[in-house]
Amino acid sequence: MDQGQGIADLQGNAQHIEDAYCTQSDRAHRKKFGQVFTPPRLAALMADWVCAIKPQTVIDPAFGTGALARAVWDRSPKTQIIGYDIDPVVCDYVADLSYENMTLKCENYLAHQLNNIAGFIANPPYIRQRDLECGEAMRQNLSARAGHAIPKSANIYIHFCTKMILELAQGGRAAIIIPSEWLNANFSTSLKAMLIERDCLKHIISFSHDTALFDDAMTTASILLLERPHD
Ligand SMILES: C[S@@+](CC[C@H](N)C(=O)[O-])C[C@H]1O[C@@H](n2cnc3c(N)ncnc32)[C@H](O)[C@@H]1O
Repeated sequence: MDQGQGIADLQGNAQHIEDAYCTQSDRAHRKKFGQVFTPPRLAALMADWVCAIKPQTVIDPAFGTGALARAVWDRSPKTQIIGYDIDPVVCDYVADLSYENMTLKCENYLAHQLNNIAGFIANPPYIRQRDLECGEAMRQNLSARAGHAIPKSANIYIHFCTKMILELAQGGRAAIIIPSEWLNANFSTSLKAMLIERDCLKHIISFSHDTALFDDAMTTASILLLERPHD
């Protein structure tokens, strides 16, 4: 990312849907569901990576107001886009924003086992393990599928990343934005092991800690660009 680019430029000015949702929703509600929305410039960068392979289907497992899905749609309107979001409030909010080939399921992505997905684009929620409902059963199930124990201290975004890596098709791509802490944290050992073992990490874009990328949250950010090799 060009150091000279200002924050306003990184965020872009096409955030009306997200801005309106933030204005009319309660901050505590957004915090509970980990609702921090991806700025358009970052969504564009992530969608470029995923859409370059012309995937038939792209999944956004943490849809929110659809910033990432819209970036995919802009580039590839024929791609089938499926979103999941667990929050009925945000699902209701975007129910009227209908795009051809885009489906939103108001469901928990972590409760669905998927397979052979050509593309993922995601800004998973940042929620601590102790605040998760049914966290332990989910952690054990995902750890067994991954072949690596996800530490109890892991934030929910580690669960999302693990699940997406497991579900990616051969040749499939994923673009995932998460806080940079995973790079140094103990709770990400299982994720790092999977990335190395499966040889799917192609690039990491890490933003400097003093870059305030998000309107509504103080968090660091890094983008993982993944591609699953063919067997
Ligand atoms: C960080 S926001 C990202 C929203 C949007 N994709 C974006 O990039 O702007 C994460 C979203 O995930 C949703 N969420 C939280 N837990 C979830 C779960 N278990 N399954 C599906 N969605 C979930 C939240 O309601 C929130 O809207």
